[in-house]
Amino acid sequence: MTVPPPPPKITVVVPKSAAIHSATVSAPTNIACIKYWGKANTHYNTPINSSLSVSLDQCDLRAVTTASASSSFDRDRLWLNGSEVLDVSTSKRFRACVDGVRALATDKIDPNTNQVLVSKADWEGMHVHIASYNTFPTAAGLASSAAGYAALVAALVQLFGAKESYPGEFTAIARQGSGSACRSLYGGFVAWRAGGAKADWSDSIAEQVADESHWPEIRAVILVVSDAKKETSSTDGMSTSVNTSELLAFRAKEVVPKRMQIIEKAIKAKDFDAFGKVTMMDSNQFHATCLDTYPPIFYMNDVSRSVVQMIHKYNEWAGEIRAAYTFDAGPNAVLYTLDKHVVELLALVLKYYPAKSNDFVEEYVSSESLAKEALAF
Ligand code: ADP
Ligand code: DP6
Ligand code: CO
Repeated sequence: MTVPPPPPKITVVVPKSAAIHSATVSAPTNIACIKYWGKANTHYNTPINSSLSVSLDQCDLRAVTTASASSSFDRDRLWLNGSEVLDVSTSKRFRACVDGVRALATDKIDPNTNQVLVSKADWEGMHVHIASYNTFPTAAGLASSAAGYAALVAALVQLFGAKESYPGEFTAIARQGSGSACRSLYGGFVAWRAGGAKADWSDSIAEQVADESHWPEIRAVILVVSDAKKETSSTDGMSTSVNTSELLAFRAKEVVPKRMQIIEKAIKAKDFDAFGKVTMMDSNQFHATCLDTYPPIFYMNDVSRSVVQMIHKYNEWAGEIRAAYTFDAGPNAVLYTLDKHVVELLALVLKYYPAKSNDFVEEYVSSESLAKEALAF
């Protein structure tokens, strides 16, 4: 009788939980009144001048981002507006945000049992999947990169339970995704302090100048002149400007510091006249630096310029600044006004751009007693 060989020793490997952890967050776009244009340090993505913007929190101009992490994911992936962005895991911007937030992760605790569900070390071993949608045109000069990277950082913060080691650290991480994104992490009026006194640029952070309840009368009207993707990305455009425009260097050193003081004072005092004037002047100077860039960059088009003329005529007619325009790196106009002038301003827009009006705006304007004819110019 032959003795059967001993059965093989079986080791059962229990795979680590394949659970998927996720968080969904949205962040608004922001439109700068004092523009960021030009990098002081491309590695840290820091600016040559401070800037200030309004977060368009109550508009439907947002990025909605879901961040998921699981030990079952084999690589980091990102989907933008439903299409996968390839090779994202090696993108410097993406890595700065994911690794930057994950470094601040905390243990995930079960509130009932107090047990650690996911430790900080577990997070380190997981890949992430990110899905993001913009509710407005991407790369068309309405600051999609601001909303997008702010939403990415905010979603990762929630997913990893991240905690800042100094105030503004999350904004310093978002800034490495896209500079303007650091300002979208806060509502209201937000300044991005250029920084540079610290070697690691940890002082290049955003801070709130006034919160969203400070000046409730202020309104933004967005005129989408074109939703097409722009030819020159902000990153490429500002790099050529830094290398070729003398006006840009002058602006960053001599002009913007004064304008930051003027606009912060105007916001605190709710002085729309001063706020509007400096906003329009800064938009104009930013676009002048684009023209001074070699080869020149044209973000505004004929329709954009006609909006500028319309607003100046309107303000002349009114004898005061009732509306202010600003244009980011694209042809689309953002108009700031006060609620008492919104109907008047919309009536004016409808009069000059009737083909592009929509029913909602038509109804809104005609429901008010103010007749369009009142604006006789
Ligand atoms: P914009 O004026 O719209 O900010 P930019 O040239 O600054 O234009 O940036 C556009 C780029 O920002 C896009 O091509 C994309 O790489 C990135 N981006 C836009 N939206 C998102 C988003 N929701 N999530 C991640 N990245 C985004
Ligand atoms: C004209 O923040 O999009 O909108 O840091 O290279 O991603 P990167 O650039 P980005 O530039 C914004 C330029 C601007 C002005 C502003 O938002 O301040
Ligand atoms: Co951008």
